[in-house]
Amino acid sequence: MDTLEDLYKLSKLLVQLNKSGLDVELLQIGKSQLSTLSIEESQLLESEVEHIKDKINEHKLISEDYTTSSDEANPASKQVVRGYVDGCYDLMHAGHYNSLRQASKLCDHLVSGVNSDNEIEKCKGPTIFKGDERAALVRACKWVDEVACDTEYTPTEETLDRYNCAFFMHGDDVSINENGEDIASRLRRAGKFKLFKRTRGVSTTDLAAKLIKIHDALTLAEGDKDKLESDIATISASEPKKFSSFHVNPDFLASARRIAQFANTKDPEETDKIVYLDGCFDLFRPGHVEILREAKQLGDYLIVGIHDDEVSNQYLGKFYPLSTLHERVLSLLACRYVDDVIIGAPFKITENMIRDLSISVVVKSFESTKGMHTEEAEAFKPYEVSDQFIKLI
Ligand code: CTP
Repeated sequence: MDTLEDLYKLSKLLVQLNKSGLDVELLQIGKSQLSTLSIEESQLLESEVEHIKDKINEHKLISEDYTTSSDEANPASKQVVRGYVDGCYDLMHAGHYNSLRQASKLCDHLVSGVNSDNEIEKCKGPTIFKGDERAALVRACKWVDEVACDTEYTPTEETLDRYNCAFFMHGDDVSINENGEDIASRLRRAGKFKLFKRTRGVSTTDLAAKLIKIHDALTLAEGDKDKLESDIATISASEPKKFSSFHVNPDFLASARRIAQFANTKDPEETDKIVYLDGCFDLFRPGHVEILREAKQLGDYLIVGIHDDEVSNQYLGKFYPLSTLHERVLSLLACRYVDDVIIGAPFKITENMIRDLSISVVVKSFESTKGMHTEEAEAFKPYEVSDQFIKLI
């Protein structure tokens, strides 16, 4: 590759790759070497570029932590880049939150479209949560700057113009619309598309399948019911992820890196009023968001205690929780009202906890005592702290 024409071709390719949001580090190497390439270096670079091209063609991932390098070099010239991501976000889970986290890294201002009930019904079937409920969960996500409601399933250039966005983002799975087309194909062809990595091992389909099985177990005639329950017990023991998540989800293992990506790093200030609320937070839903929002309003820093699968199972019943502790922790960390979580919090809240965590307010949560009379609830869920700390919401 020693002619000017080749160098020109390569530089064009690099620009093209840059637009596709490819591995920045590699692009940096490529750009810095363009003017001083030796034959070996150029061959190496070419082969790396080919490798990346293959990745694009296979619809493979881009770097998770992609940022636009030219803007970093000159922050003063930086324009606010608005990006558009969308989805159904039904039975919102840690995979959805991770998609919003990654999308937020690809732009400065993240607009998240929530597809309308009608559009989803046409393309995938009916949703479990209605549009406004799905939007409430997306709006509560700390990586989302703006929510667009009732959006089309297949975004177009008009969609991007409507929300003043430069490009559309989607996971590296293909979503098919009612005409059998990949929803991203049009914007990909227009050069207005960026890809992020889909999170394996968590999906709405899995959660919905678990709910259907529970529904069946609860509504079948007695004889069938016993059989289904024993089937479920067998499934749970042999393939835990298919049913109760009362065990580890083998396709979505807890890693400290993922938790760190989701966690806030801000310590509470000396003067901050710390609020504590605990529960299971299975199937993260609008009611949870509302209680978290109200709890946060009682102080400056909200710590959420999340009960582990065994503890939650004791009060939610034999089929629950549907999501593992790890999945539930991530959903809570993605919520803009939550400052920190206790992973596997104790069921009993004690004076020691109050002191160690400098808690000023304990919010009484009813998740574990739903349907119980007051006395029964008090005995079941002990708050071994003086009443002055307790707040009911
Ligand atoms: N997504 C993801 N990881 C998952 C699930 C979804 O990154 N485990 C991403 C999708 O790639 C898409 C966005 O989240 O960019 C919204 O997905 P959505 O339309 O809600 O539906 P699905 O892709 O069908 O996800 P699920 O199977 O969980 O419904």
